[in-house]
Amino acid sequence: MAIPTETVYGLAANALDVEAVTKIFVAKNRPYFDPLIVHVQSAEAAKEYSEKIPTWAFELMKRFWPGPLTLLLPRKNIIPDLVTSGLDRVGLRCPDHAMTLDLLQSLSFPLAAPSANPFGYVSPTTPSHVNDQLGNAIEYILDGGECKVGVESTIVGFEDNTPVVYRLGGLSVESIESVTGQAKVATTSVSNPQAPGQLQSHYAPRKKVLIGDINELLKDYSRVGVLSFQEKYSSEKIEKQIVLSSSGSLEEAAQKLFSSLRELDKSDVDIILTEFVPNTGLGRAINDRLRRAAT
Ligand code: TXA
Ligand code: MG
Repeated sequence: MAIPTETVYGLAANALDVEAVTKIFVAKNRPYFDPLIVHVQSAEAAKEYSEKIPTWAFELMKRFWPGPLTLLLPRKNIIPDLVTSGLDRVGLRCPDHAMTLDLLQSLSFPLAAPSANPFGYVSPTTPSHVNDQLGNAIEYILDGGECKVGVESTIVGFEDNTPVVYRLGGLSVESIESVTGQAKVATTSVSNPQAPGQLQSHYAPRKKVLIGDINELLKDYSRVGVLSFQEKYSSEKIEKQIVLSSSGSLEEAAQKLFSSLRELDKSDVDIILTEFVPNTGLGRAINDRLRRAAT
């Protein structure tokens, strides 16, 4: 079943049931080396699935759960190997969505859920995104409306007691550092990724995406789709244009990012031209997704 969260829609199954979890991998066409995030109802519940929660992790949970933060923590054996791809850490997250929190509270098990999209494609932020791509593969979509945050959770682990951000996401690095002090950001890895969200090409539309100075790029292409941050560009070469946030809000831009990429991907353009947004707060996650969409 697909479930809403504040970040993106997830494709959920009983995290403690190998047969149920296998169905997720099949529906998404996801490689088995890519571990799944386990969704829990509270920090208290996280203790049932992690052997040892470091102090920093506990502080982060207290401050930011429910919210767009996944913590990589030493797992208990109750979590099947399939969920962690055999790794000794499990990714735990408490999502900030009333409907899904209600669901988690009514269940006696946590929910493993990757984003509800075919492997490698842009994550879904509405029920119809899920239905477009996985409608035939799954039975239910819990309709919780449009996702508020719009980019996936930030993934944080710990190496020698230092927090490491493995995937930039809906919780800014600045917010994390306000609790833990300086964090290491280790989000690109070409081979053997700690988190496949780190693979260089991921979150990608089918159409070619180029990032740069849009006016410059426009010189070389026609039948163009433009995805800009604040500015509206004018050129007869532009077939379709989406401005992420005319007021310059990074929160609004993140919220609209994936649905805008999907819309341009579906439209009648030959190429998508886009530009980086300011590289602070949620801007870092947006730029990360744009870069991967363009690889
Ligand atoms: O916002 C989100 O995180 C969404 C919603 C549905 O919660 N989920 C999501 O899941 O984006 P997914 O599977 O598309 O991306 C999760 C990333 C993957 O790249 C995976 O490799 C990494 O988290 N991950 C999960 N468990 C891990 C583990 N035990 N060790 C290392 N990486 C892990
Ligand atoms: Mg995903």
